Amino acid sequence: MLKTAVCVLLDITYPIIQGGMAHVGTAELVSAVSNAGGLGIIGTGHYPPDWVQHQITQTRKMTSRPFGVNLALTSPFTRELVDIIIREKAAAVTTGAGNPGAYIPRFKQAGIKFMPVVASVAAARRMEQAGADAIVAEGMESGGRIGETTTMALVPQVADAVKVPVIAAGGIADGRGMAAALALGAQGIQMGTRFVCSSECIAHPGYKQKIVAADDTATMVTHRTTGYPLRTLRNTLSQQFEELEKAGVPKEDLELFDRDRMYLGLIEGDLEGGALLSGQIAGLIKDIKPVKSIIEEIIAEAEAVIARLQGTGK
Ligand SMILES: Cc1cc2nc3c(=O)[nH]c(=O)nc-3n(C[C@H](O)[C@H](O)[C@H](O)COP(=O)(O)O)c2cc1C
Repeated sequence: MLKTAVCVLLDITYPIIQGGMAHVGTAELVSAVSNAGGLGIIGTGHYPPDWVQHQITQTRKMTSRPFGVNLALTSPFTRELVDIIIREKAAAVTTGAGNPGAYIPRFKQAGIKFMPVVASVAAARRMEQAGADAIVAEGMESGGRIGETTTMALVPQVADAVKVPVIAAGGIADGRGMAAALALGAQGIQMGTRFVCSSECIAHPGYKQKIVAADDTATMVTHRTTGYPLRTLRNTLSQQFEELEKAGVPKEDLELFDRDRMYLGLIEGDLEGGALLSGQIAGLIKDIKPVKSIIEEIIAEAEAVIARLQGTGK
């Protein structure tokens, strides 16, 4: 039941993808996810080429299974990172906002699966036409940079609009969420926040604990006035930023949550002064455990939910 086109496309056991995550999606997490039968993705953020090369080398030391790389098209190093990804023959590339157009033929020629992350049907159609092998449809429940449509509304609309497999992202952290995504027409899921709270993730323990302690209303969205909405846990930094936005401070004068703020929160564990990226599903996450347990429990629960819905389960 849970073998889907995404498993075949990526040569993975389970259709579970660990979304690329700047700062915390490093070789430790990526190799753990790939070893457990999913697809780990290295988050490159704005890190320089030698850092990315190091992460790929480290990942290869820890797994022989396929893994991917997430490319931030806003990075000043995109061109060099594309060369590295192609030379290293990563299994897949995911991209976010921006135009990956020029790079797509090179990925395809190298046999690298191109899986753009989109937040709208129009973008999904555009990316399929440009050659996407799968579409990651990411709802606004997600942690990090977001669009405006929910996963529940976005996934079935994207699934109807494209022929390539759709991977649902945003607001999924257990088997019920996975079964729901499959019911909406997705052939796989991508999770971020759940994987932050894994034993292998290098995120600061204080940040992981703050996700575990979070409830359903613990996140907020800032940066709408800048055109790059960002979902984080509510803290002093995000509240101060919200006040400045409400006061109508022009976007040129707003100090954005740059990579230093994110590093401060995610890695150094500054829980009030750092940006603590997290999805709304934080409220469902109650523990920090090994990636293998996370994946196996989700698969078992999704299969049980589907069996129950079919009337064949207990
Ligand atoms: C800490 C964190 C960092 C993230 N960084 C990136 C990133 O660099 N690039 C990207 O495309 N998505 C990024 N995301 C989004 C994830 O890849 C994923 O799509 C999202 O977390 C899914 O929603 P969920 O958090 O509800 O599971 C990030 C998410 C989190 C929580």
